[in-house]
Amino acid sequence: MAITLKNAHDIEMMRVACRLASEVLDFITPHVRAGVTTGELDRLCHEYMVKEQGTVPAPLNYQPPGYPPYPKATCISVNDVICHGIPGDKTLKNGDALNIDITVIKDGYFGDTSRMFIVGDGTILAKRLAQVTYECMWLGINQVRPGAHLGDIGQAIQTHAEAQGYSVVREYCGHGIGQVFHEDPQILHYGRQGTGLELQAGMIFTIEPMINAGKREIRTMPDQWTVKTRDRSLSAQWEHTVLVTETGHEVLTRSALTPPPPPGSSYVTSFAAST
Ligand code: MF3
Ligand code: CO
Ligand code: CO
Repeated sequence: MAITLKNAHDIEMMRVACRLASEVLDFITPHVRAGVTTGELDRLCHEYMVKEQGTVPAPLNYQPPGYPPYPKATCISVNDVICHGIPGDKTLKNGDALNIDITVIKDGYFGDTSRMFIVGDGTILAKRLAQVTYECMWLGINQVRPGAHLGDIGQAIQTHAEAQGYSVVREYCGHGIGQVFHEDPQILHYGRQGTGLELQAGMIFTIEPMINAGKREIRTMPDQWTVKTRDRSLSAQWEHTVLVTETGHEVLTRSALTPPPPPGSSYVTSFAAST
């Protein structure tokens, strides 16, 4: 499948879809507390999307080749679940670390973003893993500009994760996105600087590193969706949808409660004034 370059209209539509996806995370934030079930969080998100936003939850009934239809509106991945956790009757307790991953469709365009949440007092490890994974995502975003290579993103992420003794999940990656949920190119979260596809203005893709506190190997559960760490170590993930601009990048999945970029990073890069 070819890589689609987005035109000005596509980009405007993607800004809206991506902001709406981020606003679902803003909406659900005060509900992420000990005692709530992941199924209730999913129900609240689903209702907000349909009734408040007029968006469609992209995961619901999503069925890539070889998978059963995904049964819920969101993915909620707790502790050793790496990704694609199916919301259900699991009750959150103090110390749980979870990722909520939201993809909405608005007027045919997809916005995809996820954040980590920690219930009450997380362990030092859980907080550190979430923080380092956030830094990994941003180190990847900071590489995005015309002329850079996909391997620059992968190497930046892998180097930081491995320097902390953590590992990068290989089986899942970021992806092009637009009027299709998952399109080319694949955005690997590991690699070598200077290798891979050269970035061009108008590309839109996600960066969504999955970082394990232990080994990188995965185990897929019998539901055929839920992916856990094989060694039962904690895993963390953050995700933004990013546009390659003439001057660098624009992070599209932002809203009022989006955590700020780390020092030295920014949502939008622009040429410095040259006078
Ligand atoms: N939102 C996920 C991603 O970042 C994909 C979820 S597919 C689902 O690509 F079917 F599990 F929802
Ligand atoms: Co994604
Ligand atoms: Co996602």
